Amino acid sequence: MTVAIQISPSILSADFANLAAECNKVADACDWLHVDVMDNHFVPNLTLGLPVVEKLLQAVNTPVDCHLMIENPERWAPGYAEAGAHSVTFHVEAATNPREVIRSIRAAGSRVGMGIKPKTRLEDYEELLPELDMLLIMTVEPGFGGQSFMADMMPKVRAARELIRRDDLQLWIQVDGGIAANTIEEAAEAGADVFVAGNAVYKADDPAEACRRLRDLAETTHRNSWWCC
Ligand code: DX5
Ligand code: ZN
Repeated sequence: MTVAIQISPSILSADFANLAAECNKVADACDWLHVDVMDNHFVPNLTLGLPVVEKLLQAVNTPVDCHLMIENPERWAPGYAEAGAHSVTFHVEAATNPREVIRSIRAAGSRVGMGIKPKTRLEDYEELLPELDMLLIMTVEPGFGGQSFMADMMPKVRAARELIRRDDLQLWIQVDGGIAANTIEEAAEAGADVFVAGNAVYKADDPAEACRRLRDLAETTHRNSWWCC
């Protein structure tokens, strides 16, 4: 498969009172806008939900990548796809029937991602990979921006990339948590191709320039890596 490095800035680190303007700051430099939906049950934090995502979709042209850190994705996930989110990621730990969630998100018209927390083993869900458009490997415990990158997740990223190559799967590998100029190369070397970055983008003086820098670093690393081409 052909691989393109993609950058998905997390608006969790943006100014929530000026979301559309914050999104437009990075529009020319990123591929996605990563929107973290948290319900204070699946994770110990509360952010925003469907009404805000619906408004955001009207206000921006960049495709939206919804990361649902919520319980009962069976009930809630399809609504984000119906609203027009281009990619909807649920957490497998929250799902009673992951295959059903995958099917219902896809039926509602969006790409489907499945997230796994740091302690969740890839081996337990390998058989779901052919059903997905994206595997999200968390590189922090989900819930908050600004945490430290967990380098010990890299063997999981590498194992996922090996499976994709072995079975010729059309699947992106997203990493989320602590991605910055000093960590993105390690994640790209391991095999990730979609990079979420919150603080590294929105706490920078120039968020668009921060996105470009991250992309350059990941592209260069990928070009020289074991999993290129
Ligand atoms: C954490 C969220 C992340 C968060 C990343 O649970 O899923 O998307 O915004 O923020 P940084 O890049 O600052 O770790
Ligand atoms: Zn996220």
